Amino acid sequence: MPAFDLVVIGAGPGGYVAALRAAQLGMSVACVEKEKALGGTCLRVGCIPSKALLESSELYEEARHSFAEHGVAVSGVALDLPAMMKRKDRIVRTLTQGVAGLFRKNKVAHHEGTARLAGPGKVVVAGAKGEEILEAKRVLIATGSRVAGLPGVVFDGDRIGTSTEALSWPAVPARLIVIGAGYIGLELGSVWRRLGSEVTVVEYLDRILPGTDAEVAAEAHRIFAKQGFKFHLSARVTGAVVEGDGCVVTVEGKEPLRADRVLVSVGRAPMTEGLGLETVGIAVDERGRIPVNERFETSAAGIYAIGDVIRGAMLAHKAEEEGIACVEGIATGHGHVNYETIPAVCYTSPEVAAVGRTEEELVKAGVPFRKGKFPFMANGRARTLGRTEGFVKVLAHAETDRILGVHILGPRAGELIAEAAAAMEFGATAEDLARTCHAHPTLPEAVKEAALAVHDRALHI
Ligand code: NAI
Repeated sequence: MPAFDLVVIGAGPGGYVAALRAAQLGMSVACVEKEKALGGTCLRVGCIPSKALLESSELYEEARHSFAEHGVAVSGVALDLPAMMKRKDRIVRTLTQGVAGLFRKNKVAHHEGTARLAGPGKVVVAGAKGEEILEAKRVLIATGSRVAGLPGVVFDGDRIGTSTEALSWPAVPARLIVIGAGYIGLELGSVWRRLGSEVTVVEYLDRILPGTDAEVAAEAHRIFAKQGFKFHLSARVTGAVVEGDGCVVTVEGKEPLRADRVLVSVGRAPMTEGLGLETVGIAVDERGRIPVNERFETSAAGIYAIGDVIRGAMLAHKAEEEGIACVEGIATGHGHVNYETIPAVCYTSPEVAAVGRTEEELVKAGVPFRKGKFPFMANGRARTLGRTEGFVKVLAHAETDRILGVHILGPRAGELIAEAAAAMEFGATAEDLARTCHAHPTLPEAVKEAALAVHDRALHI
């Protein structure tokens, strides 16, 4: 068999996008994936199914609690969980099949099986019909991550589980304990709370949403608590076991907690086991990640790595950017990721979104900055939507006025942050954003007003 120009291991958002871009650039490309469905954690058991359930559960909650305020009288609102799950599965199926279609269109050879390196230029694929060997001029490792466990927490495949199981529970648990107040815990906790669970979140830190701007996280905490989430902060979980027909979660220095189900969401770990890294002399770092340079080259010639297996935020779009930069670098000599402008979104209600530096990071780095804040309460469109919680915060350099960070807690924050990311990508100042005409009445006007507020010029407050 002739050697492929590039063999990509892993068909998640990082790997499949890299494979498509490499094919566009004229390379002969194979992509190896061990799961039947393409798309990786994101499409199969992550971003996409969770957003489907977030949308459905929000509609259910709105039908029960917010329709009346709009003068829409409904009665007999009931939950049809199997239908909700079916819709989610259908969306996942459509999108994963879509990736397979994109592979065909771009002539990316899809190999189903588990790949491992077998020395330079060789990838062994163990599939249903035995092993085959792919010759590769270059190999891109995009194997992603898996759920991290916690000592003392025993996954029983049913009651104590990960996000994967929590996306398909057959019934609403009366009491749910979520370990970890990060993205997964708060998103899936929101789903089940809206569907009727009493949700208790146990978090090791003294705050929720680690890494998020502290002012945003504090306000989000207040709002989520008002929605009914119970929080135990500064509480370290030391174990979780199934006992009788329930679960017991032990917390250092506190009374044990009981629930019907437990969701473990304490982070993810890079997936490098069984990859044959030793056959090409690659050693992982202290956190199990594959070290790479700015061109995503590993220590082994011709072997590259991107996404959750390398340093940086474990986000689908970060992996995509890296995949594109990596293969463009191979094909053209140029490829670059601007890590300063990678947005992050938590799809709770209200949503939490950010790009750039937090206030704490700027203070710590001694960067002089000005801050502009604008509440959705004062935004006309937010009023008409009946979604007035939260605010936009713009942080700009005190001398140059260049935007350093934008943090949004509020309706459609995940969509609003795109404007901020684009502005920062173009090196915009707060003044640039403030002088950009925004349609009225829209939520993005809150972003403009926050930019005006950087110079104490907000108009509607
Ligand atoms: P995370 O890293 O966001 O949060 C984990 C939390 O668990 C932290 O707050 C940590 O302090 C806490 N924790 C750790 N050990 C603990 C203990 N023993 N007891 C109590 N709390 C403990 O991890 P998460 O939510 O599991 O997400 C995994 C990855 O997936 C993250 O990198 C996240 O960025 C990504 N993700 C992104 C989403 C998005 O972009 N919307 C959605 C879901 C996940």
